Amino acid sequence: MKRVTSIAEARAAVAQSRADGRLVGLVPTMGAFHEGHLSLMRRARADCGHVAVSLFVNPIQFGPQEDLTRYPRDPDRDAMLAHEVGVDLLFEPGVDEMYPTGFATFVEVERLSGHLCGRSRPGHFRGVATVVTKLFSIIAPDRAYFGRKDYQQLRIIERLTSDLSLPVVVVSMPIVREADGVAMSSRNRYLSPEERVAARVLHESLSAANAEFARGERDGRAIAGRTEARIRAEPRARLEYAEVVDAGTLEPIAEIRQAALLAVAAHFGTTRLIDSTLLGVGEPP
Ligand code: PAF
Repeated sequence: MKRVTSIAEARAAVAQSRADGRLVGLVPTMGAFHEGHLSLMRRARADCGHVAVSLFVNPIQFGPQEDLTRYPRDPDRDAMLAHEVGVDLLFEPGVDEMYPTGFATFVEVERLSGHLCGRSRPGHFRGVATVVTKLFSIIAPDRAYFGRKDYQQLRIIERLTSDLSLPVVVVSMPIVREADGVAMSSRNRYLSPEERVAARVLHESLSAANAEFARGERDGRAIAGRTEARIRAEPRARLEYAEVVDAGTLEPIAEIRQAALLAVAAHFGTTRLIDSTLLGVGEPP
């Protein structure tokens, strides 16, 4: 596996593989790899002749009160794990490489960015959309891999890819969970042992909602209300939202007639966690 830090080196490494006729897959990441990241890399490895992984803790997607400085960083461990799953190229640019002095161009995906996490994290999705567009421009992947754990991010990336006619297929992969159901996240390591136990409430409340849906409940507000109550019953959880939304537009819905998403966000101590589940009536758009 090759490790490079400059845009020019990354372009050159991928160009060689493309010239050899290989399909290029990209897994954009911010590092601190866990099984969720590795599942994306394995899928890219199975699909593509050349697998590039970007590792860049993107400052413009963090708000002023957010955890940029304490975001976990262990690039050598990450490189070892990426190597083990057969990644060809690890692109690890510095902030100056990605955002040189004078950088002034941003990508904003309207509407989709305003719902759910967008309300409490202004500018976050603009930062994500900008860096992903830039990574797509640098690597020019045929396929790019994202987890459904960050469902809103996934929808935004799909939309920007389609709106800007970018020639990349966005592949989404299922949420990877710990044995007790907690969704894997780089942020789980910030949880105290008590908060880690309390964090189970997110998956448990989503599972309960799924069971209600399976029994025929189609009232989105009622499902969201009961999910909210379950999370609020956990003393260590500070609920931010529990919402049933259209799985395509992310607009809140009262009655579930189309594919819907139940999404939750809550704080455990200083750590903010999100989780979600699709409540399927038909395929998500
Ligand atoms: O999901 C992430 O890790 C980041 O938001 C991404 C897509 C790598 C952009 O920085």
